[in-house]
Amino acid sequence: MSDAEIGLIGLGTMGAALALNIADNGYRIAVWNRTAARTQEFHDEAGDLAPRITPTQTLKELVAAIAPPRAIILMVPAGDPVDQQIAALRPLLDADDLIIDAGNALFHDTNRRMRAADGPFLGIGVSGGEEGARFGPAIMGGGARAHWDRVAPILEAISAKFCDTPCATWMGEEGAGHFVKAVHNGIEYADMQMIAEAYGIMRDSMGMSYDEIGATFAKWNTGPLRSYLIEISAEVAAAKDTATGKPLLEMIVDAAGQKGTGRWTAIEAQHLAAPIPAIEAAVVARNLSSRLAERASGEALFGKGPQPIAPETLSLAQLERALIAGKVLCYAQGFGMIAAASDSYGWSLPLPDIARNWRAGCIIRSAMLDDMAKALGEDPKRNLMFAPSFASHMHDTQQSLRDVVAAGALSGNSLPALSSGLAYFDAMRTARGTADMIQGQRDFFGRHGFARFDTDGKGHHGPWDDDT
Ligand code: 6PG
Repeated sequence: MSDAEIGLIGLGTMGAALALNIADNGYRIAVWNRTAARTQEFHDEAGDLAPRITPTQTLKELVAAIAPPRAIILMVPAGDPVDQQIAALRPLLDADDLIIDAGNALFHDTNRRMRAADGPFLGIGVSGGEEGARFGPAIMGGGARAHWDRVAPILEAISAKFCDTPCATWMGEEGAGHFVKAVHNGIEYADMQMIAEAYGIMRDSMGMSYDEIGATFAKWNTGPLRSYLIEISAEVAAAKDTATGKPLLEMIVDAAGQKGTGRWTAIEAQHLAAPIPAIEAAVVARNLSSRLAERASGEALFGKGPQPIAPETLSLAQLERALIAGKVLCYAQGFGMIAAASDSYGWSLPLPDIARNWRAGCIIRSAMLDDMAKALGEDPKRNLMFAPSFASHMHDTQQSLRDVVAAGALSGNSLPALSSGLAYFDAMRTARGTADMIQGQRDFFGRHGFARFDTDGKGHHGPWDDDT
């Protein structure tokens, strides 16, 4: 029976959740997995949704089960598996059948696949983890608009909604959807890192218990910091280990994993010359965290890093305000990078729509995003922290960010994201910087030339002796 409205390949955690979400929204879906046993198990466990799901044993059967013109979602690991899956699937398809890569692909790969595709192809970023995939993710689409429009009704139906508006948006041609997803993940890394830095200060320098830290995050989640990441941090901090009864965080090894999306964002930012120091610092922090033995040697040699902070020096209210400033700076950097890519790749990325798309479903959803969408709608080219509502946040919080970074430096807390966020803020509010010295040095040793305030042209030189 060729009556399925869409197909899906790859029944891992995300693929299975997405397939159930599609069936739950009333669509008939055919599914296939590399291992047939998993397909059967998935169907057996689908409960009431099973009648809308057609399990198939071969790719040929999958294709035959879908009504043409077909659309098939790939939910396989990023990289070679996607190329292999496309190579196996494409020969079985009709010319107008659409393949949709919904994994966390590197956008350069999506660009390449789109150019090489001998049929319609979309690359979509899906955010929200397993829960989001099952009940409403944020979806960032890239590829030909006409191909997006073919599947938009299904993608909008399964996506998260913010006040009834679907969080499923076409971002632009080629790999634009996967690019926006990568920047989303970069912001995710920086936001998570700043929260972890605040946790470190509370744990190591303010002497707070895990329960107190959890309660503090829960309280912050009722104010300007309200967001999914603060909400889950409250739960993580308060969680108890079922095996030992101890706080769960005491049992978790302090070495952060990464699949690579944050690193891709940092590398791409360098190509674009887009300054995203807080995001880069968060990637660096994950890399540092994995050097467990080296860090232990460092502690043995130099003494334990974080020391207590005198209670009168720093309050939880200051820490909260520092995180508010940090959050604004993370997003300002992320949106700045998107604006740079939009110009560089000619994609016309819709910045206000991106902020709107992130208001629900995705990992970085936060109360601030609605205001960000408004600010970017007024002027997408303006640095987000210069928009009146965010400038006002920065006026109110920048002193606290300064106090936290200073207290962290004096007490030996490593705060890479918060301190680089502050350095970015200070750089961006300094009209007369110090790069005149860099230009002087460059001209001194390499006659690279410099621009002058009082004359046109860039090729001016200093009075260096020829033999220096
Ligand atoms: C999301 C997440 C999700 C996942 C990534 C990043 O938006 O749902 O970003 O895509 O968390 O795989 O994970 P790493 O932390 O392993 O890079």
